Amino acid sequence: AEDEGKSGKRKVEFQEPVAGSSILSALQKYFEAAINRAYPDLPDAPVVVAVSGKFGDYQCNSAMPIAQLLKAKGEKSNPREVAQKLMDAVPPFSWVQKLDIAGPGFINITLNRSIGHKALNEIVLNGVKPPVVDRKLTIVCDFPSPNIAKDLHVGHLRASIIGESTCRLLEFLGHNVLRISHLGDWGTQFGMLIAHLQDKFPDYETKSPPIGDLQMFYKESKKRFDEDEVFKKRAYESVVKLQSYDPVYQKAWKLICDVSKKEFQKVFERLDVKAEDVGESFYQSRMEQVVKDLEEKGLLEDDDGRKVMFGRADRIPFTIVKSDGGFTYDTSDMATIQYRINELKAEWIIYVVDAGQSTHFEVLEACAVKAGIMDPEKVRLDHVQFGVVLGEDKKKFKTRSGETVKLVALLDEGLKRAGDKLKERGRDEALTAEEFKIAQEAIAYGCIKYADLSHNRVHEYVFSFDKMLEDKGNTAVYLLYMLTRIRSIARLAGHTPESLKEAAKSTPISLDHEKEWNLAKVLLRFTETLEKIARDLYLHHLCEYLYEVSTAFSEFYDSCYCVEKDAAGTIKKIHIGRLLLCEATAMIMEQCFSILSIRTVSKM
Ligand code: ARG
Repeated sequence: AEDEGKSGKRKVEFQEPVAGSSILSALQKYFEAAINRAYPDLPDAPVVVAVSGKFGDYQCNSAMPIAQLLKAKGEKSNPREVAQKLMDAVPPFSWVQKLDIAGPGFINITLNRSIGHKALNEIVLNGVKPPVVDRKLTIVCDFPSPNIAKDLHVGHLRASIIGESTCRLLEFLGHNVLRISHLGDWGTQFGMLIAHLQDKFPDYETKSPPIGDLQMFYKESKKRFDEDEVFKKRAYESVVKLQSYDPVYQKAWKLICDVSKKEFQKVFERLDVKAEDVGESFYQSRMEQVVKDLEEKGLLEDDDGRKVMFGRADRIPFTIVKSDGGFTYDTSDMATIQYRINELKAEWIIYVVDAGQSTHFEVLEACAVKAGIMDPEKVRLDHVQFGVVLGEDKKKFKTRSGETVKLVALLDEGLKRAGDKLKERGRDEALTAEEFKIAQEAIAYGCIKYADLSHNRVHEYVFSFDKMLEDKGNTAVYLLYMLTRIRSIARLAGHTPESLKEAAKSTPISLDHEKEWNLAKVLLRFTETLEKIARDLYLHHLCEYLYEVSTAFSEFYDSCYCVEKDAAGTIKKIHIGRLLLCEATAMIMEQCFSILSIRTVSKM
């Protein structure tokens, strides 16, 4: 159930909501008006409206806190009395059929089924529409932001999956979303790497080592850097050369970046992840400028040769300039946030990065505010953080030999397992080779994404192919099957989405049966589910919602015939009104899958 407390400036007037408003937000405004009329002296009285399963459709739970506020002011009252007063004060509203007081002072709201007829009919006729947003925003979403010359690992898988869906959601709401991959492509490690290549791969000026060797060279160079003073000095010299744009070093660096990016691209294409590469290197001149600015504002303090900036007294400071004069990850993020706000005109910046970096982003926000780069009233900043991926042994996800799991290998295994699963069911015989491949990919990548997105992202989760490929329960496989089943109902009755659209012009959607109306109410909650996710950026709400839709559909389908057949299997009667309900369900499920970046299939 959803809980939304609100306070602040209050309106007494109430207008029938515009098309596309969610029921929840409409009911909040409705009760806000009632509270203001009944209790004008309580401007902070909370408007609490929630979905209620058993009694009525929604519930207003404001009477209890209001009674308490009254008591605090020395006025005698009880919640039932308050509830009665609110009921007397509600404005006229066509969506509400009736209100009842229950228990100690809950107000049960029964909706008018006509809103279901109208809204679901609209979906079948004109498609699933997003909730209305106050203003279309320019949003920068920073993901998946891997590091050049290093492997992609499961952490980047999470960033890719969560980032992609976050962008799709915000784009569906109509915002202008700039997807930016903040590549780790700058800094000391490239000095190390190039110095090492000079010894081990003398052709480095004209070609990059192949990706596998590159990662090995990277590890070797790090080891030498830590152990060998002479090498360390050389590494620093080469990073200076690189960052002063020496053409030889630039060329070598670019070759290395290209090889890595190509490798990343292979994975992102398989997962349908799209983001533009704007790496740390892009900010070199901007970092120089930002350091000057911070210096002039007197925000940098000396700390044993380093220049640091305190964003928050209770957190470690940002290192803006190292004692050797070099810049850091912190410096690059300061320049980046300035660029995004001033030049890209971002009004909302989202970082999809593991929870291990939460301090970094807290300090970043505080420093940006302190330096006058960011006005928190005008720019929203979110660190969309996520926990680590665990293996089935509940330890950090590793291969049997103890190495980090490479993404390519993981996706390949997913494909193999999905293929085996389909073969077990004999689908290799029922489907053409082309159809089989489409289904196999949809299941493999879909189940990996769904397993990730259906968990609360801040928690760690256990990666298990066996679990995610189960065809029962809250899994992508189950939900994809459900969708193909729903689609097949109308198809087997000789209908197409087009013919149903035509039928929707004259036939009302069937909502008389309790299970029909229950399904409809879940479908109508699509809008408020998206509104909630736009507030907190937790995509597991959408997975829970999708599963709820499928459960409500199953219950409906078990008790309501859509197509009646005689003993010989001949169709006797087609309930068009019910087929329309099936169609609206399928359309909403498809929209959810599209936001979750899960490909749907017509056959599997
Ligand atoms: N490259 C970093 C990593 O792999 C993530 C960068 C996130 N973005 C940012 N603006 N700091 O850990």
